[in-house]
Amino acid sequence: MLVTKQLVLQRFWYPVVPIAQLLNGPQSFELLGQKIVLWLDASGKPAAVRDRCCHRSAQLSKGKVVNGNIVCPYHGWKFDSNGACVHVPQAENSPISTSYKVSAYHCAERYGYAWVCLADPLKDIPEIPEVADPQYRLIHEFYEPWHCAGLRVMENEFDTAHPTFVHTETFGSEEHPVPDSMEFSETEWELHFRSVLGVVNPSLQKQNLKMAQDKTVRTMHMTWFMPFTAKLRIAYPNGLVHIIVNTTTPINDSTSQIVQFCVRNDTEQDTKGEDIIAFDRKVTLEDKAILETTDFDVPLDINQEQHMLTDKPGIIMRRKLAALLKKHGEVEQIRR
Ligand code: FES
Ligand code: CO
Repeated sequence: MLVTKQLVLQRFWYPVVPIAQLLNGPQSFELLGQKIVLWLDASGKPAAVRDRCCHRSAQLSKGKVVNGNIVCPYHGWKFDSNGACVHVPQAENSPISTSYKVSAYHCAERYGYAWVCLADPLKDIPEIPEVADPQYRLIHEFYEPWHCAGLRVMENEFDTAHPTFVHTETFGSEEHPVPDSMEFSETEWELHFRSVLGVVNPSLQKQNLKMAQDKTVRTMHMTWFMPFTAKLRIAYPNGLVHIIVNTTTPINDSTSQIVQFCVRNDTEQDTKGEDIIAFDRKVTLEDKAILETTDFDVPLDINQEQHMLTDKPGIIMRRKLAALLKKHGEVEQIRR
């Protein structure tokens, strides 16, 4: 599937830029092959429009924000968060033509990021109730491009067979090449996967988990929110809950922006945020090294690759995406 060619993917929300970065001025981002510019309007809300001025096509993201509007760096035309041109310095006293405008996109703040939907949203931004729960704290982890398809990352997170071979320096256990259990349930837009997996507890992690044993067990409830957000709720025997939320925002067909934060039911006094990030960093780099070797044109047709029992989540994801395309009258686009 080539993500930029499947128009229905424009109808989902994706986190694109940390709100904190927008405090420094306008930021450009490429979403599904479309260049957009984001900034904060006068009320502090994020706004997103096409990063191309309707006058002579200059990039608005190279301009500046004045009173909540974005000013083009070429001739100073000013646009509001709806994409309407609200000031032309060369024609101060004339009305502005309504054709002076750029495309504006749905934009909202959630979990510390500006989220964008390029077309009519089919679904809300994924709900992560723990973020607002005072028992939990939010830790921002990673924001970086990976050279692979988002779907490869999604199925990797639900793949209970890879830790033994990929996470050899972090938590993978040779004694547990397969999980103890796998349970699935689906809704129209989500896949829920419950699994129990024995893992090792290396010295780097012992402090983070407050567990001295060399081995432990992860009881996992993973949720896939179509198409590119995953929530991994990992519970340990001592009551610690570590939730990883990860979106692979599609930049173009071969690159995804990894946006990851975690939510935990412990405190900074228990475990420093930087130690949690350091361990998760090591884990994600193990995944990245493998995932960037895979084909980005992931086939939704399951006959195009070979499978085993632990691939069931990935197979369900492909089936649900194929059904989504069909429902919206689209044919899967592939590299030729
Ligand atoms: Fe933007 Fe001229 S190109 S104002
Ligand atoms: Co992994």
